Amino acid sequence: MGSTKRTLIKNGTIVTATDTYAADVWIEGETIAAITLQGMDLGTADVVIDAAGKFILPGGIDAHTHLDMPFGGTTSSDDFETGTLAAAHGGTTTIVDFAIQTKGQGMRQGLDAWHEKAEGKAAIDYGFHMIATDINDATVDEMKGIVASGVTSFKLFMAYPGVLYCDDGQIFRAMQKARDLGALICMHAENGIAIDVLVKQAVEAGHTAPKYHSLSRPQIAEAEGTHRAIALAEMAGAPVYIVHLSASRALEKVVEARDRGIPAYAETCPQYLFCSFDDLARDDFEGAKYVCTPPLRPKEMQDDLWRGLRTNDLQVVSTDHCPFCMKGQKELGRDNFTKIPNGMPGIETRLYLLWDGGVRAGRISMNRFVEITSAAPAKLFGLFGKKGTVAVGADADLLVWDGDKEHVLSEKTLHMRVDYSPFEGRVVRGAPTHVLSRGRVVIEDGRYLGKKGDGSFLRRGTFSM
Ligand code: URP
Ligand code: ZN
Ligand code: ZN
Repeated sequence: MGSTKRTLIKNGTIVTATDTYAADVWIEGETIAAITLQGMDLGTADVVIDAAGKFILPGGIDAHTHLDMPFGGTTSSDDFETGTLAAAHGGTTTIVDFAIQTKGQGMRQGLDAWHEKAEGKAAIDYGFHMIATDINDATVDEMKGIVASGVTSFKLFMAYPGVLYCDDGQIFRAMQKARDLGALICMHAENGIAIDVLVKQAVEAGHTAPKYHSLSRPQIAEAEGTHRAIALAEMAGAPVYIVHLSASRALEKVVEARDRGIPAYAETCPQYLFCSFDDLARDDFEGAKYVCTPPLRPKEMQDDLWRGLRTNDLQVVSTDHCPFCMKGQKELGRDNFTKIPNGMPGIETRLYLLWDGGVRAGRISMNRFVEITSAAPAKLFGLFGKKGTVAVGADADLLVWDGDKEHVLSEKTLHMRVDYSPFEGRVVRGAPTHVLSRGRVVIEDGRYLGKKGDGSFLRRGTFSM
């Protein structure tokens, strides 16, 4: 292999979505070259990492992030440099971010703008989904070129009328085209038209505190959107992926469709598993920290989401990382919840929370943890083989994971560029000692060893589940 750098991770236990076994991992340059019995001698290595007592996991894949995104009259506070750096600290080695088509413009312009935002900045590999806000003859035709350039999924919004919203006809047309192209439609499934009526009525009644964000977006609005998204996809003969599913009744719609064999998929997010309406109802405007859409739900719904994750009715946990600082951003809505920019930070804390509150708490197995955080998003979004597993020929995106390491989640020690943590003071166990991105150690014991621009754009494959 000439001068290619050789790395050996020895004495660890590999955990994939399907297997758990003791083995050594040999890396040549960026790629996993061999997986051997522990102690087998394949010659010398330039870098040796002793993973005794630790797990070797595929790096996390976060299929739902919003970096440097203009939204709610401001811009999400992490850009591609700070957001991907924070992701790497938390063990995520790939993100799929959302490029946005501006209404009245083509998709290509939106995609070019996102390439510009990311180029030379990312610490880890990244791909894009395309948010389509303006579906017409010309933009439907554009979808082919977008897919050919490696952007093989589109997000459509049933929410945010006048901003990101598409009507049912537009959605249906995009789904038909996605079916023909092998692309996946990701749906923000909430009835935004009815919600806008409730929001207006809430404000008129003087209900301006953050908790009214949830009270004006009832779960039935999400259930109806989810049902409609799946029905439209079924009519179009296309698969559909429901993003950031938060509510029990929305989950019921996914379960019903999947039981009929419909290719409906869904993700939830850590905020829906670990936070609730009670957080949104906190006093003194603290609830603003928890304003995201769909909104946080009553705590009782969390059990249903965990059950969905166990039974594969929910396939993925992504973050919907869309951070806004309290100062200067969330406070825009101090007197009116409708002006609070929607979104929460989470790109760094997803694996910590799911390991501690999922694996250690006995809710999911280690293999299921790998599946919902890495393997399944890789499969759904055309990355599997290179990403999402520990296998010969795969990119060496790997975590050496200490399943017992105790640490405290705090805005002061986390790396996301946001002035609060929704989980401030929460003690968790489980963290990576080493994070490798395509064979390079980018995090070692909490220190960042990489550099801005190490991450590359990923041209993703088409949908093949
Ligand atoms: O509150 C959220 N989720 N903000 C990001 C935009 C979206 O709908 O995903
Ligand atoms: Zn959304
Ligand atoms: Zn989102």
